[in-house]
Amino acid sequence: MENKAKKIIENNNRGDFTIPCDTLYPFQWNWDSAFCALGIYTYDKERALHEIDMLFNGQWENGMIPQIIFHRNDNTYFPGPEIWKSNTTPPSSCISQPPVLSTIIWYMITLGLHDKTILNNYFDKLMLYHKWYVENRDPYNKGLLSVIHPWESGRDNSPDWDEAIDAIPVDNTLNIPRKDNDHINEDQRPTNDDYNRYMQIVYKCKEFDWDNKKIYDEGLFNVCDPGIQFIFIKACKDLYKIAVYLNRDDTYSTLEYWIRHYSYNSNKLWNNNVNAYSSFNIKTNKLHGCISCASMLYAYADIGNVEQRKYMIQHSKRILFYTKYGFPSYDPLQTRFNQKKYWRGPIWCIINFMLSIGFINTREIELAKKIKDNTLQLIENQGFYEYFDPYTGDGCGGKNFSWTAAIYLVFKNGMFV
Ligand code: DGY
Repeated sequence: MENKAKKIIENNNRGDFTIPCDTLYPFQWNWDSAFCALGIYTYDKERALHEIDMLFNGQWENGMIPQIIFHRNDNTYFPGPEIWKSNTTPPSSCISQPPVLSTIIWYMITLGLHDKTILNNYFDKLMLYHKWYVENRDPYNKGLLSVIHPWESGRDNSPDWDEAIDAIPVDNTLNIPRKDNDHINEDQRPTNDDYNRYMQIVYKCKEFDWDNKKIYDEGLFNVCDPGIQFIFIKACKDLYKIAVYLNRDDTYSTLEYWIRHYSYNSNKLWNNNVNAYSSFNIKTNKLHGCISCASMLYAYADIGNVEQRKYMIQHSKRILFYTKYGFPSYDPLQTRFNQKKYWRGPIWCIINFMLSIGFINTREIELAKKIKDNTLQLIENQGFYEYFDPYTGDGCGGKNFSWTAAIYLVFKNGMFV
């Protein structure tokens, strides 16, 4: 199985970077590539660093590392570079994705990456990336990071933003030439109405010439995603460790401030009605009431008071009790749950990796281990799918998926969990 995992990554290699999956996602994706680099690091350190370098190649002058980098043309994907028109070299999409990269690089340090020239170079770029997040996704310094497009969260059709997305009326004059459904059964993908709204958000941002302040204030979509918020906190903690490792004491106070500020303000995501962290619609000032896998990343960020942590563990155990395999991307007791539809229920291996790390942080070792064992079992039974049905274990979405292979290698090597 480990050889198969490596083979998949090799087949998805397009030179110095790895695509998530042939035809479905034919470019370099930000968080896909970061997780993939960690998997590759377990057997080919040099190649893993090239993966990271190619991500940094796509970094914008303002610090943003884009969601998709179009290093070369491919017409199997929509929306491609001709829609985004980033005006950058290489071309890219104009939004970001969950900032896992600092954590991945810290993990590489713990696995033996000790070249300080390389690391100092990475560190400066990571600081710029974090600064971009703070300045552009929290311009009023509320301590809440927003996503201005569901694609930025990486969890496109999560019910976490149903209200926010449904508030955008479908525009029947738009013709959206989707390509994803040419490759995957449409029951497992977002709906046409979702895509119509996704593209309206993009077109509106283009009208604003990608002015992030204007998009924050007047765009069609602005939600604080607990996923981004918690992943950012963890990334700041790991970037701080890198700073200490490199003696970069010029950055300690900034990093300490980000960790404190975003941890403290995560309280604004606490919903007393359901006793859990949930998403928050910045446009309407409303907390969403449901619980997704992103809520559970509180443990990955290692935040919350004793009582909050107690409630969150109860939710985790309840959710695992109701599904045969864990961890589903959405609460299975909610009506919006759908066991096969992308981010509305299926299990995702990278989320399971972060949850296992999280539950190790909070000393819920049994939960961490159960999630890891389920992940390995799913992959061994079904293959390296994009996601899995939490009731039947069926593999769904793209086949021969790079980050699934990468997480298999990381889990199998007993690293971190
Ligand atoms: C897609 O195209 O489905 C991706 O999730 C966008 O990043």
